[in-house]
Amino acid sequence: MTILIKGGTVVNATGTVEADVLVDGERIVALLAPGDAALGPINADKVIDATGKYVIPGGIDAHTHMQLPFGGTQASDTFETGTTAAAWGGTTSIIDFAVQKYGERVEDGLAHWHELAAGNCAVDYGFHQIVGGVDEESLKAMENLVDEGITSYKLFMAYPGVFYSDDAQILRAMQKARELGLLTMMHAENGPAIDVLAAQLAESGKTAPYYHGIARAWQMEEEATHRAIMLSDLTDAPLYIVHMSAKQAVEQVAWARDKGKNVFGETCPQYLYLSLEKQLAAISEEWGDFEGAKWVCSTPLRSEEEGHLDAMWQGLRTNDLQMVSTDHCPFCMKDQKTLGKDDFRAIPNGIGSIEHRVDLLYQGVVDGRISLSRWVELISTTPARMFGLYGRKGVIQPGADADIVVYDPRGHTSIGIGEGRSHHMNMDHSAWEGFEIDGHVDVTISRGTVLVEDGQFHGTKGHGRFLKRDLTQYLV
Ligand code: URP
Ligand code: ZN
Ligand code: ZN
Repeated sequence: MTILIKGGTVVNATGTVEADVLVDGERIVALLAPGDAALGPINADKVIDATGKYVIPGGIDAHTHMQLPFGGTQASDTFETGTTAAAWGGTTSIIDFAVQKYGERVEDGLAHWHELAAGNCAVDYGFHQIVGGVDEESLKAMENLVDEGITSYKLFMAYPGVFYSDDAQILRAMQKARELGLLTMMHAENGPAIDVLAAQLAESGKTAPYYHGIARAWQMEEEATHRAIMLSDLTDAPLYIVHMSAKQAVEQVAWARDKGKNVFGETCPQYLYLSLEKQLAAISEEWGDFEGAKWVCSTPLRSEEEGHLDAMWQGLRTNDLQMVSTDHCPFCMKDQKTLGKDDFRAIPNGIGSIEHRVDLLYQGVVDGRISLSRWVELISTTPARMFGLYGRKGVIQPGADADIVVYDPRGHTSIGIGEGRSHHMNMDHSAWEGFEIDGHVDVTISRGTVLVEDGQFHGTKGHGRFLKRDLTQYLV
């Protein structure tokens, strides 16, 4: 099957060019100067008219949690529903977190994640490995990860008793990661101190969702980020801080990067657009002040007045932050978020956004926050380089997988599930209700297969393949 995408503006991280894109089978085979396709004998099986539209590499969401067990329940998207929603939103690859729970073997946790995903994904998928219990056995198991195509792993300085690692465990894991070339991903919040603050708030009757963010104060994020950076410095292990929301924590990453360290920072759409003030003000007829549970996530939403949201955008402009992933971890209000109706500590942590990342970041272009090429760099190229996929993914060039999105800058996207709106994530609400985007994902193609076109889904749940990833290609 050959596809010719005609008349569009090809946007890569390196710049834009007017070109037609020829796809043969699963690959891009040529970029043609406008009009050249008419000269030669190109009889493509399918022609897509991209006149006036952007032709960009498919989005790569490098931080998702399908079916993550959390707080007595599990994230509501399966690999099928989550990757279908991803395709609708222009994302053609995800990297999910395989979970090793405390007391479980890393190999068993990973095998389980393969079982959950295999044959169920509409787009390509890779894994990071959560190491939830650092000990002799799991350190040994880390030695097999690179061969398995899993070149990054996550540790938690938060969630004592669940995924938490203490400093000694972190140090040992980083030493091992340095030896193997693995990228250490860190959830940087001081979990033990947060648990004290959270208990004190709950005991004094402050049980509403808003207090989740008060307990998880920015100092907890700054301190843990600094500690992780120092451990990475000591061990010379590259470090990637996930889901950053505090401006002071970003300053720590900037400080390390200014010294030339391999320290990287990721933020998420929720930390660019949603605030603690919004969460406090959220009161609905249905949920009262429990409405704020829709935005309970960790790290938490931060104060817009204190400048955290602007600092995230600024970090993206200066490359102090390199990545925007969703941390997609959806929970329904009914039966899931409501587990914490009487105590914010029991609200499952997470927000669902996998369908909206490409659009939400495009709005940053429209608003003059980032350039067109920076948009593509953030949604696709840097995730590909950071997580060992570049060349195959993250770029429109001959030889790359034909993961392509045709994006219409004159289109419009209304986000939410209210009157006249819908989404494809398995959630009974949207954390993004009412967001209006000045752009639209028209066509999503994954490895030469059209998944979304003309407002229809044409994909299948078995289309997505497991991505064996190379080592990070982003080190200085
Ligand atoms: O709130 C969040 N982030 N939930 C997912 C688990 C994690 O820490 O990434
Ligand atoms: Zn985390
Ligand atoms: Zn996460």
